[in-house]
Amino acid sequence: MAPPPPDTSKIDRYNSYIRRVNTAKIMAASSKLLFRATLLTTLVLILIFTLNYPPLGAGRSHSSSSSSHRSLISTTLYGDENSGAAWEKQVRNSAAPRRSRGMSVLVTGAAGFVGTHCSLALKKRGDGVVGLDNFNSYYDPSLKRDRQGLLARHEIFVVDGDINDGPLLVKLFDVAAFTHVLHLAAQAGVRYAMKNPQSYVASNIAGLVNLFEVAGKLVNPQPAIVWASSSSVYGLNTENPFSEADRTDQPASLYAATKKAGEEIAHTYNHIYGLSITGLRFFTVYGPWGRPDMAYFSFTKDILNGKPITVFQGQDGVEVARDFTFVDDVVKGCLGALDTAERSTGSGGKKRGPAQLRVYNLGNTSPVPVTRLVSILEGLLGVKAKKNVVKMPRNGDVPFTHANVTLAAHDFGYRPTTDLSAGLRKFVKWYVGYYGIKAPAKAGGSKQ
Ligand SMILES: NC(=O)c1ccc[n+]([C@@H]2O[C@H](COP(=O)([O-])OP(=O)(O)OC[C@H]3O[C@@H](n4cnc5c(N)ncnc54)[C@H](O)[C@@H]3O)[C@@H](O)[C@H]2O)c1
Repeated sequence: MAPPPPDTSKIDRYNSYIRRVNTAKIMAASSKLLFRATLLTTLVLILIFTLNYPPLGAGRSHSSSSSSHRSLISTTLYGDENSGAAWEKQVRNSAAPRRSRGMSVLVTGAAGFVGTHCSLALKKRGDGVVGLDNFNSYYDPSLKRDRQGLLARHEIFVVDGDINDGPLLVKLFDVAAFTHVLHLAAQAGVRYAMKNPQSYVASNIAGLVNLFEVAGKLVNPQPAIVWASSSSVYGLNTENPFSEADRTDQPASLYAATKKAGEEIAHTYNHIYGLSITGLRFFTVYGPWGRPDMAYFSFTKDILNGKPITVFQGQDGVEVARDFTFVDDVVKGCLGALDTAERSTGSGGKKRGPAQLRVYNLGNTSPVPVTRLVSILEGLLGVKAKKNVVKMPRNGDVPFTHANVTLAAHDFGYRPTTDLSAGLRKFVKWYVGYYGIKAPAKAGGSKQ
């Protein structure tokens, strides 16, 4: 006898019951998942905003609230490394003075030659210092990174950024109440201007304007600014020694023209916004941790490698001479200028009274022929140089520089004390130590 047919209606009812139960379970699970995901996203967003929103109360206030919004937008949207609680803490710690009535200084170009020395000197006497540098590759960036390492060992934080980055500058002023800016970031070098003119416009003109815009219009209270102009502004000037009253309207290179333009731009921001601005005309600065593109540095390298060096002779057979200034003397001048800088007078983008505007020569007051520089190096290195003497091309360099420093001496006691032999000895000692070269004849030395 055949078995009775299965009761399919019961099985169907059972299957549909199971399907309903499963669908309900899946829906419950997915709505839980959706809820958790929404909660998590909200928490993450709150965290990002908390970490990135500039703490306006902790630093200076801004005359314009839109500026703080700009910094918020730049950091949250682009997520750069210059943001977050840890970054702000580093900036704040580094900016805090360790002596009573100490200043808090933003040093632009801090990973550069002069910037490194000035930052160390400021920190040493108890001032707060934060550096800013874009670590460009005009010369070996690893030297800049090593200078940054040296500064870090002295608890000086160098922010990796560009002076053209307005939101970053605004943010730095939000985080730390800088009383002063020592503005040294620039595209340096005279002959490179023919190769890459735009880099001079970008850093020495646009970057300078950007800094003045932020400091003059957005920051309250405004900082006082000390910045590096150059002896090259004297250009084809024939007065000797060069004094601040001499004409500076005949630049011989684009570099010189951008520095001269900087001095005029400084006048404008002082006049309209009440920024206190001091320009310093440096004369051929040299020393340890120096710039590889400068003659004393490249001569040292080439002499040690047995390579010929090119020594320029003036067009009329006159000796080319420079007022070589040792970096420690220039540092003293920079600190003297900072110490005597008066407060800016503007606020909310408006001048409230006349503000200080100054220009000073910082030189050594005794020009030395370049041939003498070479013979001092030969003595220190114990190697004879292979010299190629050629006429100096008319493409930027001037044959002679000589500083009159009476004004700086009078206003902040500037007195250079290092002669070229003593300064070069210190440079060569650093050079052989840094590059791990076996100590040559008279320099001796180990890594600083
Ligand atoms: N060394 C000299 O003999 C001499 C002479 C006259 C004037 N100066 C001026 O003194 C200042 C310091 O010179 P230095 O010899 O230390 O030069 P440097 O090239 O060693 O230092 C300048 C630093 O600025 C940085 N920088 C350049 N453009 C920047 C930008 N847009 N944003 C952020 N950082 C930027 C560079 O990376 C560099 O580390 C410069 O303004 C220079 O023009 C120097």
